[in-house]
Amino acid sequence: MTTAPTRPLFSSRLGFIMAATGSAVGLGNIWGFPTQTAENGGAAFVLAYCVLAFLLAYPALMAELVIGRHRRANIVTALGGLNPNATLRLIGCAAGLYGVAIASLILAFYSLVGGWMIAHTLQPGIELIASTVNISADLSTSVEAGTTWLTTQTPWRDIIFCSLFMTLTVGIVAAGVGRGIERWSTRLMPTLITLMIVLMIYVWSLEGAGEGLRLLLVPDVSRLANPALLVSAMGQAFFSLSLGVGTMLIYGSYINPDASLPTTGAMVTAIDMAIALLAGLLIIPAIFAAQHLGIVIYDEAGVLRSGPGLIFQTLPALFKTMGTIGQVVASGFFALLTIAALTSSISMLEVPVAYLEENHHLSRHRAVAIASLSILSFSVVIAIYFNVLFDAVVNFTTEYSQPLLGIVLCVFAGWVMRRDHLLDALGGSDSRLFNKIWPWYVRFICPLLIAAIFIQNLRT
Ligand code: PHE
Repeated sequence: MTTAPTRPLFSSRLGFIMAATGSAVGLGNIWGFPTQTAENGGAAFVLAYCVLAFLLAYPALMAELVIGRHRRANIVTALGGLNPNATLRLIGCAAGLYGVAIASLILAFYSLVGGWMIAHTLQPGIELIASTVNISADLSTSVEAGTTWLTTQTPWRDIIFCSLFMTLTVGIVAAGVGRGIERWSTRLMPTLITLMIVLMIYVWSLEGAGEGLRLLLVPDVSRLANPALLVSAMGQAFFSLSLGVGTMLIYGSYINPDASLPTTGAMVTAIDMAIALLAGLLIIPAIFAAQHLGIVIYDEAGVLRSGPGLIFQTLPALFKTMGTIGQVVASGFFALLTIAALTSSISMLEVPVAYLEENHHLSRHRAVAIASLSILSFSVVIAIYFNVLFDAVVNFTTEYSQPLLGIVLCVFAGWVMRRDHLLDALGGSDSRLFNKIWPWYVRFICPLLIAAIFIQNLRT
């Protein structure tokens, strides 16, 4: 084992759970999940998602945690050192480097989106202040121009706010595993859940919300036969649990040696799923409440507006109809998305940082500086060539690379890692049944199922 004497650890099992759910719960849950649910016919998607999350994503999460805990190293060293065979070492290192690159690429587009969230948090707040204090007509025109600038997508706005978001991420990661990642995840996660529940109760009190609840809760089972739905549900589950890029692996390497992994992993999966459902219960009723107020919720083609149209047009239009309180709600809503994005972005940055620290012997500060500046330069390129690059980077990383790396990680845990190491890393005595089934499951079923859905994706 390559145990460095000074390697940091999360202080407790709860600390790990906070950090890992902080990583898992992000824009994928609060924006991606409700959007995909709306696009894929509601409850049928929710059902497919829940089944795939436990059947595929959870066992794949376990593969990452087990490898991380056993090797106590970043993804490159961990995969490269699972087996002494030279070819396997080479493949492991290459796959690990690919994971580091994908985590960095995801952060490059994710921090752009995080920046949008900050801009949208500021806009209603500034409007609110401007409307309550007495300002001259001239100043009020400039305030209006300023707030319009904040909500209009331009490369400059994107670059400025992406840098701000990245600065927050850097600040937390530079402080280290315990004092940065764990401490901030523990602070921000309860804030996020409280904000969500308050917003949800508010939305439910609006007229029209009930129709959204029906879409979310009553499944149209015929849609389950649609392979595209399964592909989307699997992609969503992998993205949401931060799988395939070494995030969970590195967090697993910081886990306290006494914690039993199967229950801990199951808790992370369950919390991630519960928060996605909570987001669905907040956003989908909000869409229908908006419709009730006369806001157009379908696009020209008659399809429910989702994606950016939903978050940046439908919902803000709903908030606008509520007067002053609407501006507070709008600010709270985008603050929620910013917080969720931040607890995820820190986990993405930790992947290249841990690699640079451990394999290139850089200090943490230097590793953070190099990784974040390289990623930020890529974000700038995406912001400038937005129309060409944004969707391409999102698809390449999340739809193709994450499931592919997911297969590699399952194969490494199932075939390359020694069985006694595997069982030893699982730990705990409460996991006997799990220890019997999972090693076999991760060997055969997981890679085959992911591959089957992945190939289906290539064909559609
Ligand atoms: N799980 C995060 C979300 O749902 C995204 C993420 C992907 C985080 C990959 C880390 C690594 O938004």
